[in-house]
Amino acid sequence: MKFFVDTADLSEIKDLSETGLIDGVTTNPSLIMKADRPMKDIIAEICEIVDGPVSAEVTAIETDEMIREGKLLAGIAENVCIKLPLTLAGLKACKELTDEGFQTNVTLCFSAVQALLAAKAGATYISPFIGRLDDINIDGMGLIADIRRIYDNYGFETEILAASIRTSNHVREAALLGADVATVPPATLKGLVKHPLTDKGLDAFLADWKKTGQTIG
Ligand code: E4P
Repeated sequence: MKFFVDTADLSEIKDLSETGLIDGVTTNPSLIMKADRPMKDIIAEICEIVDGPVSAEVTAIETDEMIREGKLLAGIAENVCIKLPLTLAGLKACKELTDEGFQTNVTLCFSAVQALLAAKAGATYISPFIGRLDDINIDGMGLIADIRRIYDNYGFETEILAASIRTSNHVREAALLGADVATVPPATLKGLVKHPLTDKGLDAFLADWKKTGQTIG
């Protein structure tokens, strides 16, 4: 499973990229707002840090304008992936941009049939939003399972990018269900390493080692 980090915070991206665990980055207009800097500068700087796909989202709502914005964003760096909303206009833009060889990420997916449409439009990635479905008491993980099954039934190559991930358990379940990618906020990503028995075990080993009076070198 690939890990993307879901943030526009450059210091978090730098920090996490040094672990070698990050395969890409996703941003959205809300994350850009939080970063409070020009989007083009942020995306350019992220693309210098991370070699994998960096999703940058269009803000137009008409197809032609989405395509124009998408091409401007893709012009920032070779690894920009154009993020488009799951609307009819967005799917048309997706078809045209993927036909022209651009990477695309169709976002704001909340149903399996939406994901089917995105695959038919040639999307490189589909982003089902797990957490936002859970927020309204709909099983977000069930959506991942449905999309996996539909894509496998028909051999679609669109990658399932589990988004709106809030917990370690979301990552675990998405991995078990065969999501290709999880895009995870920095704090949740760092939290994946944590286990109380790891901390307890390490404390005990270090205490016993101290008692030996030895050093390794
Ligand atoms: C995905 O690409 C989105 O940026 C993101 O995962 C949305 O997450 P949220 O629902 O926590 O805002």
